[in-house]
Amino acid sequence: MTNTLDRRTLLRMAGASAGTAVLAGATLAGAGAAHASGGAFLHGVASGDPLPDGILLWTRITPTPDATPGSGVGPDVEVSWQVATDPDFVTVTAQGQLMTGPARDHTVKVAVSGLAPATTYWYRFGYAGGWSPTGRTMTAPPTDAAIDRLRMGVVSCANWEAGYFAAYRRLADRGDLNLVVHLGDYLYEYGTGQFDAGGTVIRKVEPAHEVLTLADYRIRHGLYKSDPDLAALHAALPWVITWDDHEVANDAWSGGAENHTPSTEGAWADRVAAARRAYQEWMPVRMGEDGAIYRRFRYGQLAELSMLDLRTYRSQQASGTAVDDPRRTVTGDAQMTWLKAGLAASTARWKLVGNPVMMARVDVGSLPAWLLGPLGTLLGIPQNGAVLNADQWDGYNADRNELVDHLRATGTRDVVFLTGDIHTSWANEVTTKSTGLSNPAAAEFVVPSVTSDNVNDFLKLPAGNPLSALGAGLIRSTNPHVRWTELDGHGYGVLEVTPQHCRMDWYHLADRTRAGSASRWVAGFSVGAGSAKLRRETAPTL
Ligand SMILES: [Fe+2]
Repeated sequence: MTNTLDRRTLLRMAGASAGTAVLAGATLAGAGAAHASGGAFLHGVASGDPLPDGILLWTRITPTPDATPGSGVGPDVEVSWQVATDPDFVTVTAQGQLMTGPARDHTVKVAVSGLAPATTYWYRFGYAGGWSPTGRTMTAPPTDAAIDRLRMGVVSCANWEAGYFAAYRRLADRGDLNLVVHLGDYLYEYGTGQFDAGGTVIRKVEPAHEVLTLADYRIRHGLYKSDPDLAALHAALPWVITWDDHEVANDAWSGGAENHTPSTEGAWADRVAAARRAYQEWMPVRMGEDGAIYRRFRYGQLAELSMLDLRTYRSQQASGTAVDDPRRTVTGDAQMTWLKAGLAASTARWKLVGNPVMMARVDVGSLPAWLLGPLGTLLGIPQNGAVLNADQWDGYNADRNELVDHLRATGTRDVVFLTGDIHTSWANEVTTKSTGLSNPAAAEFVVPSVTSDNVNDFLKLPAGNPLSALGAGLIRSTNPHVRWTELDGHGYGVLEVTPQHCRMDWYHLADRTRAGSASRWVAGFSVGAGSAKLRRETAPTL
């Protein structure tokens, strides 16, 4: 069976036009800025969580000038929505209306169902005779469909005050993507000047203080959604997202956070509830009735994507021998059971895991102090010389061993972790202390930050300086399962999945502090089906 035949068959199944290649990406060019009515839709449109028959659509309406994010004022209003198979809305496939108002910060979320699989749709919202900007999205293919290629942008860690979101713009401008996977730190909670570009505020956050209340979180979400590069990527592609810590507060765990002081900031549970409520309102994500965000997506026979929540259920960060304590957890019992069962039972070729914090071991015991400082900040290593990165899976050895041992015991292959959080670029083979390098259990691709500070920013040296390069070499020599790392670049990853391989390409920005910065390809690594040994690629796929 050839891929071409599969594609034709799938096109017929999907009822798509001959000119619409299944899972071929496209940009939003020509799709509809002209439809924008301006005024009332100030925060763009977004889609997310694609299913074979449905998609989640999002927008926010500003019906009166005073109904700003977090204001709690403004009227209840009816908003309409349309989904069409063409950018001019000649053929409207689905439409409806719903009410929104200040109780949900005038956000709008529609779970559209009854759509055709593997199909490109355009969507828009209507209010008072005007239309929102037009968004473009794609449903997932049927579960049993043979798919020959899937490409997704992979991102994390977008700090407003550190620069501009050119990484999002570069992904929006590509014509070949099917999906965006965001691994968390979509926004940061800090007040102005508390976390910027190596000491320089490139643009100020709103509110100016650290976000704490429901109104604060809504205002911060509103600020982010006002960014034109972020809006462009939301409008161009469906996103699948999970959160990390900064959607609430730095180094969050189930009972608190490094950046939360109950005596002055109130109960942690109240802050979490406020942050999660704003997140639910403002993000194109389906959350469970209990607020759970870990969930799974399927792209035909080719790939399954399990998105993890590594903050809500985790034990408090610890150091020393506590990292081996089997009573401590990073996933929580229910999520671990769900993850293990899902990976082992999956019939998809590739089992992708959206994994907010790094899985691979990083032994930093022999690294010099100058590197331990900035690296420790990124990895969550206590600055007192402790040698484990307590905020990542390294701080929860029992959970990591349980998961990796399970993959080995069940013969589960072709597992690839997609990771964010540490603002730097890594290609890792996942092993445990008890296993050698010859047969890694899984691969891990770690994408850099969109803007957030990394090693050279902390060192206050230019990107690509000899010290950072030396640091990367030291990490590699101490950790041979780390096949590649780069400590200075900001940008994004592009993941290509085919039946034969799963491949990440890393792209770094020329300058995160400039709007519209160019990006360049810096590295590519792939794994072949059946083996988690990484192969270095010598040229970009596109
Ligand atoms: Fe981050």
